[in-house]
Amino acid sequence: MHPRGALLILILALTAQDAVQAGRIFGGSEALPHSRPYMVLVEGRMLTGKKKYCGGFLLREDFVMTAAHCVSSHTVKLGVHDGSKEEANVQSIPVEQAFPNKDYDKETFRNDILLLKLSSKAELNSNVATIAMAGPEDGAPRLCSVAGWGCSDHYGAMMTPVLMEVNVTLGPCRNQHQNSDFYCSKGRKGIGSGDSGGPLVCEHGKVYGVVSAKQMIEPIFHLFAKVQKHSDWINNIMNGH
Ligand SMILES: *[C@@H]1O[C@H](CO)[C@@H](O)[C@H](O)[C@H]1NC(C)=O
Repeated sequence: MHPRGALLILILALTAQDAVQAGRIFGGSEALPHSRPYMVLVEGRMLTGKKKYCGGFLLREDFVMTAAHCVSSHTVKLGVHDGSKEEANVQSIPVEQAFPNKDYDKETFRNDILLLKLSSKAELNSNVATIAMAGPEDGAPRLCSVAGWGCSDHYGAMMTPVLMEVNVTLGPCRNQHQNSDFYCSKGRKGIGSGDSGGPLVCEHGKVYGVVSAKQMIEPIFHLFAKVQKHSDWINNIMNGH
């Protein structure tokens, strides 16, 4: 099986109106507004000029993590619940510099993580907060949740702009060789287009993975880049900037 043919990149392209046409995660429900204050709506622009969106999360006041395939990101929005509305107290901060993981592989989506250094520090409050990353000492997670503004099906029907969340159970990946790079969940329930870059939150409320890709052949597998194996790279970049 050619790995590329089986993967759908989870980037949601938006319409000309620039409205946030996000939707829902498969099989999930609306998150309680601002119950995940680390969630970041990451805005990018395609070569055509259209906006595109990814999810992300706040690691430090001036650092956001998202997926490496969201590399054209230029602004982050913090404190968002409903992306289609002009919500009060949303912080919109330009990206100063993007750091894709040096081992990111566009063909297989291995190491699909990106750090965004913000041009100014986020103001932390009840709607905007950082989340801790799992380290090598935390072991393998099993029961997790993901959240995102992505669309509920890849045909783009029935979209809603509010943050959605879903619980997922991790297990082996489709191909055994993927187990060292990805956490995987199987079945329809899970992530959809536009959820890329969001956090996989598991034991002790820590981030273990980044929403990366979805294998669209049955049975469907959802792939999350492991952050634990990149702790040193992440800490080196954040400590150096
Ligand atoms: C998701 O998991 C959390 C934590 O285990 C639990 O409290 C919650 O009820 C679950 N939600 C659903 C919809 O199953």
